[in-house]
Amino acid sequence: MVTITGINFKNPTMLASGIMGTTGASLLRIAECGAGGVVTKSIGPEPKAGHPNPSMIKLECGFLNAMGLPNPSYNEFDNEIKLARSGTDVPVIASIFGGNAEDFVKVAEGLADSEPAAFELNVSCPHAEGYGATIGTDTCMVESITAAVCDAVDVPVWVKLTPNVTDIKAIGKAAQDGGADAVVAINTLRGMAIDINSGYPILGNRFGGLSGSAVKPVAIKCVYDLYEALAIPVIGVGGVSTWEDAVEMMMAGASGVQIGSAVHESVDIFSDIASGIELFLQDKGYSAVEDIIGLSHKVI
Ligand code: SIN
Repeated sequence: MVTITGINFKNPTMLASGIMGTTGASLLRIAECGAGGVVTKSIGPEPKAGHPNPSMIKLECGFLNAMGLPNPSYNEFDNEIKLARSGTDVPVIASIFGGNAEDFVKVAEGLADSEPAAFELNVSCPHAEGYGATIGTDTCMVESITAAVCDAVDVPVWVKLTPNVTDIKAIGKAAQDGGADAVVAINTLRGMAIDINSGYPILGNRFGGLSGSAVKPVAIKCVYDLYEALAIPVIGVGGVSTWEDAVEMMMAGASGVQIGSAVHESVDIFSDIASGIELFLQDKGYSAVEDIIGLSHKVI
């Protein structure tokens, strides 16, 4: 078991936002597959259709997506969270987005009734104009939005950060100054693919966000830097597909590890990774998962 921001998780793995988190039933399915926690698809103040297709493509090194934050709005989604919560003890975290503090507060208050275990603020989607990283690259906006949501809710607030900045530590500090209980790092790296036969960008939005194995070293460095810079927990996400990746992320400083793209391979990934971590701890003589969190900072 691991406790992060006062929430107990039976293991340190979580479903990352955006993957299979669009309905209560799919959140439940992942919870039943052994995830320690599940995060919903990001939910906003109004229904949003998202970007035109193709909105997701598989590359040799991972995935490029430009979904465009499609969602039915908080009004339609609170029942999905209730459904997921009613079928499992696994903590359900609500990922939310908006264009300003008022939007974020409206969505958080609108979903409060469904009692998510925490809110994860998406200030990091790299390809949704007016949302996500548009906000998440501005320290003042990050601090004020975080503070507004923290004031409005009585559950932990996590802030998901973008790696598409010069200094992720400054953005993490802004979240911490706003009262965030944890940061989540990283969202996708801005990327693009072009069809050489036609010359057209492949994604409907022309560019999107890269996820999968290729981004893992970037995520490890961001988690490492944030762990040094902040007093609040860091939750790692980016390119984790094996228990070894998860251990590495935790040694960089992650208290928990979210898994996204790798769910494409198998939904059993959560239990596989959780038992891999457990065996590793036993093998190496560690008494608890906490022994390896931030370990790479302690070795000389
Ligand atoms: C999307 O819906 O566009 C992806 C979400 C994200 O990158 O945060």
